[in-house]
Amino acid sequence: MTHKIAVLPGDGIGPEITEQAVRVLTALDLDLDLQTQPVGGAAYDVHGHPLPPVVLDLAKSSDAILFGAVGDWKYDTLARELRPEQAILGLRKALGLFANLRPAILYPQLANASSLKPEVVAGLNILIIRELTGDIYFGQPRGVREVAEGPFKGERQGFDTMHYAESEVRRIAHVAFQAAQKRSKKLCSVDKSNVLETSQFWREIVIEVAKEYPDVALSHMYIDNAAMQLVRAPKEFDVIVTGNLFGDILSDEAAMLTGSIGMLPSASLNSASQGLYEPSHGSAPDIAGKNLANPLATILSAAMLLRYSLGKAEQADRIESAVQKVLEQGLRTADIHEQGLTRVSTSEMGDAVLKALK
Ligand code: IPM
Ligand code: MN
Repeated sequence: MTHKIAVLPGDGIGPEITEQAVRVLTALDLDLDLQTQPVGGAAYDVHGHPLPPVVLDLAKSSDAILFGAVGDWKYDTLARELRPEQAILGLRKALGLFANLRPAILYPQLANASSLKPEVVAGLNILIIRELTGDIYFGQPRGVREVAEGPFKGERQGFDTMHYAESEVRRIAHVAFQAAQKRSKKLCSVDKSNVLETSQFWREIVIEVAKEYPDVALSHMYIDNAAMQLVRAPKEFDVIVTGNLFGDILSDEAAMLTGSIGMLPSASLNSASQGLYEPSHGSAPDIAGKNLANPLATILSAAMLLRYSLGKAEQADRIESAVQKVLEQGLRTADIHEQGLTRVSTSEMGDAVLKALK
């Protein structure tokens, strides 16, 4: 069976890192139909829109999407609906990619890269599950309006709306409990239920869903405390589940614990296991086109693609082992380079992973 994969390299370093992941995917002798289209700023340049219909249609009709990164300073002055970021938000919403899995793993070979003491982070392996299509990110109404009453009456006011429907909380909770069952059976739900109605509702529903998973130990934490505990004692966590906004923030924080955001993949899944796979880092326009960027997060995202959307766990394992191997060989792109190790370019890192696959 042929698997159709949309390849959307995007902006900045997106094209060069995606190219390496595509080389790895093609080396595996799978029956893949890879179709490439511009997205984000690159699509705006060609089509006048960051997510034009041809790109959205390709994404919808594919089994999986390999996504690079979007964004560049040169689009900062565009109207919000034309900015590159709207492409990734639009894809998440249009495909219903509500479950975002962001692993934060500290590779033993990179123990010194973390800004925390080695004993605090050694062996770190946590999974953040972020709800991705709801919350204040998509809530309506939003905008700028005139204040009708109170001390700020007559002034302009910016506003957004936070809400979660019961089924939205339930489905992400199920994903999280099932992920926890496959790991250490510990799940921490993060919210701000001491202040927010939405969060209190979130917590109630998570507690209800927990009844179906008696083997999983559920705990709850406020977002401010979770942000603190994540740098104090990150290894106390295993699986974390949280809403869209809190998950955005916590996942960047968790990524930094590993010292190398250039290493972390992510998967965004819908209920049909269609998925979008992208590195957790951004488009890094400052180093774009210089063959400097670390392609490993995108290569590892390709491994997640094989595992979650194509059911090819064996090939996913092969890619992950190949990445381990190049790290053991001491090969490092600039972001993770340390003295005494071999500094390589984006494409040389790709070469090395390909060689290690054989
Ligand atoms: C992410 C990014 C996006 C988000 C931006 C680019 C819209 O920060 O994937 O975490 O906020 O979700
Ligand atoms: Mn983010």
